[in-house]
Amino acid sequence: MVNIKWEELGFNYIKTPFRYISHWKNGQWDEGQLTEDNMITINEGSTSLHYGQECFEGLKAYRRKDGKINLFRPTENAKRLNRSAQRLQMPAVPEEMFIDAVKQVVAANEEYVPPYGTGATLYLRPYLIGVGPNIGVSPAPEYLFSVFCMPVGPYFKGGLTPSNFIVSEYDRAAPFGTGAAKVGGNYAASLLPGQHAHDRNFSDCIYLDPATHTKIEEVGSANFFGITHSNQFITPKSPSILPSITKYSLLYLAHERFGMEAIEGDVCLDELDKFAEAGACGTAAVISPIAGIQNGDDFHVFYSETETGPVTRKLYEELVGIQFGDVEAPKGWVV
Ligand code: COI
Repeated sequence: MVNIKWEELGFNYIKTPFRYISHWKNGQWDEGQLTEDNMITINEGSTSLHYGQECFEGLKAYRRKDGKINLFRPTENAKRLNRSAQRLQMPAVPEEMFIDAVKQVVAANEEYVPPYGTGATLYLRPYLIGVGPNIGVSPAPEYLFSVFCMPVGPYFKGGLTPSNFIVSEYDRAAPFGTGAAKVGGNYAASLLPGQHAHDRNFSDCIYLDPATHTKIEEVGSANFFGITHSNQFITPKSPSILPSITKYSLLYLAHERFGMEAIEGDVCLDELDKFAEAGACGTAAVISPIAGIQNGDDFHVFYSETETGPVTRKLYEELVGIQFGDVEAPKGWVV
């Protein structure tokens, strides 16, 4: 019996018993296996260490009321991992291999999937890295794909309690750079701006579009959405945003389940007044309501500094209900 206070979990590393690991060499993946060893040993010349040739994913396993376990749209994670891999000249991980690895890790660590009703989930972190002897700026000779997991609570403290964000003066990614790929470099670039935000008591940064700095792009650790006074769901569109699976799920649910106009478009900084509510969304963040945004000396409050808006709450309940198996899922969303 695992001794964890599920309701008190934050978003922190916890060693669970098993992880999956597979190696790519001479043009093919080996069979892959579960291991209890949470350390990896790689060549000192590995491209992942020097040139950032690595990408990763994040997805969750959800304990249902009937005790079974749901995965939420894992094929979308497999597809996104392979788009990131392609951007960094890494071999694809076949979708079946990705899903099989995730299922093996969940099954082997089943007692770490938090009980239904605690709000906690099992977070899975698949990653693909370039390894092997290398020193020039060229793709690695070998690769390693692994999936590990741990139980988690809310990413932003307070979960569905609104918090404040600050517009960063830094860019997260270049207009036609790697912003749309889930690669470590984007997150490394966000550490300093993130620290500045935390030092001033903000949950995280808001990054602007790197070309004109007039439009909101994303939160770095999550995507951005707003609900207009005329009940539209709007989320930014740009080639440098990380395409969040949660964001696309919300676009679908807003339109199909709630009859809202759901738009990927511009969110101009000088038009924030048109939004009644705003939030950050992602696998880790789920839906985290944004109370206000600091931009220079201006502090813009959306719905309320303390209360979650009704549309944000409705979308949250629908999404989370689907993930935990309490609400009927669109075809193919739940495995
Ligand atoms: C996720 O939502 O799974 C992510 O990878 C975001 C990460 C910053 C925790």
